[in-house]
Amino acid sequence: MFSKVEKVTCVGAGYVGGPTCAMIAHKCPDIQVTVVDMNSEKIAEWNSEKLPIYEPGLHEIVMAARGKNLHFSSDIPKAIREADLIFISVNTPTKNYGRGKGMAPDLKYVESVARTIAQHAGAPKIVVEKSTVPVKAAESISFILREAQKNDTRLAFQVLSNPEFLAEGTAIRDLSNPDRVLIGGESTKEGQEAIHHLVSIYERWVPRDRILTTNTWSSELSKLAANAFLAQRISSINAMSAVCEATGADVREVAHAVGFDSRIGNKFLQASVGFGGSCFQKDVLSLVYLCESLNLQKVADYWMGVIDINNWQRRRFADKIIAELFNTVTDKRIAIFGFAFKKNTGDTRESSSIYVSSHLLEEHAKLAIYDPKVSEKQIRMELGNNVDKQIVEKLVTVCADPYEAAAGAHAIVVLTEWDEFKELDYSRIYSSMQHPAAIFDGRLILDQPVLRDIGFRTFAIGTAPDQAYNLFGSSGCC
Ligand code: UDX
Ligand code: ADP
Repeated sequence: MFSKVEKVTCVGAGYVGGPTCAMIAHKCPDIQVTVVDMNSEKIAEWNSEKLPIYEPGLHEIVMAARGKNLHFSSDIPKAIREADLIFISVNTPTKNYGRGKGMAPDLKYVESVARTIAQHAGAPKIVVEKSTVPVKAAESISFILREAQKNDTRLAFQVLSNPEFLAEGTAIRDLSNPDRVLIGGESTKEGQEAIHHLVSIYERWVPRDRILTTNTWSSELSKLAANAFLAQRISSINAMSAVCEATGADVREVAHAVGFDSRIGNKFLQASVGFGGSCFQKDVLSLVYLCESLNLQKVADYWMGVIDINNWQRRRFADKIIAELFNTVTDKRIAIFGFAFKKNTGDTRESSSIYVSSHLLEEHAKLAIYDPKVSEKQIRMELGNNVDKQIVEKLVTVCADPYEAAAGAHAIVVLTEWDEFKELDYSRIYSSMQHPAAIFDGRLILDQPVLRDIGFRTFAIGTAPDQAYNLFGSSGCC
């Protein structure tokens, strides 16, 4: 093939492709990295001062490498032609049409990139699946590429699976210090050679014992399995949160006690209004679809429970708000704090805020929404996909700061755990609201006793209102 990878191209300049390639460029100054996308506006943004995604630490590493060994371009054929190794990093959303609608991931973008690579390669290439794909997707990519090989003897392809495990909001930290890098490939001599080339890129900054190599299918399935396990933990603690609310137990204490068991561990046990993001729901549904296709209905049902609990948790929280606001929110102003699916990102895909807000809008509440990183256009677009656009137009105000959102509101609903929400002047907020004033904390970030002292009625996921007490000590919020 070739002795060393000198040029890397990534097709797809999104939340995965952009940060991943910025990190490779940052860590490998001798490798030329080009990120391409069919969306030329996005490429223009990557080439501007305001990057298309917000990710702590990303701006710095992009600015340091851009124009040196990191390039953003719309010329996809050229970038493919020149590359030794090509990452496919395009979106694989859940299908919203046809066979597998609402369950299977849509592979049309991955397939289209495979065909573009086949058309423009001109020389041997290593093709790396970075997008999360169902098991055996690499086989389809190989099939398309082999067809091109039949007509052009200069071509040779090796397809590797190298799923990305970064989490948004901590992408740069995760990429620079990953728990593991996973690479799957064929056991043939050529397959092993391709694996070696990719290993030699990561080896520059990732300890060798954290770079795992497996067969292609194990690698593909491991990504789905890892996301399913993580999502399952959240649904498990969220299921417990309902039991806590009904019994007077406190979900934070339960999570703490359970997580102390070293076999269980203390991470990812934060009860919430439900997980969001582009991955968990999509990947669990993809796993369910795979199991159904394999006639493993029991397994499919088991994993579907994770999604069911998540949807139930969102609905349960919205219903709680309505019930506590005297069974009607019609015409009541409600401040929504946070629209992103988690803090430190502007990404709203599958955010629980969309679902809780939509339930409230269906009850004709007036929403005043504030998020530090999500634009008004984005908020309206997401809600408009869920609720009648006229209702969104009439009932939604997007505010520039949380004080403005809360002024005149009957209630505040915290849906994203932004740190700034812990530090607001809640006495000032209380005096600007309608009374009785309520706070619904869907992220368990606020200090309920302090808020109650101010005069708020408080409700937090996983705590019974009359039992909740200060777990934050004197360093807590407010
Ligand atoms: C996830 C995986 O963590 C990552 O490894 C994979 O590559 C992509 O999918 P991401 O969706 O970016 O990453 O963020 P993550 O931190 O996993 O959070 C997902 C959702 O779960 C968020 O809505 C978050 O608020 C929620 N969450 C997370 C909880 O509700 N409780 C927790 O304890 C952890
Ligand atoms: P992810 O979170 O997986 O990175 P994103 O939606 O943020 O997903 O990014 C995927 C990117 O892939 C988008 O910017 C989209 O324009 C790009 N893309 C999709 N299909 C193609 C294609 N055939 N060629 C080039 N870019 C593509």
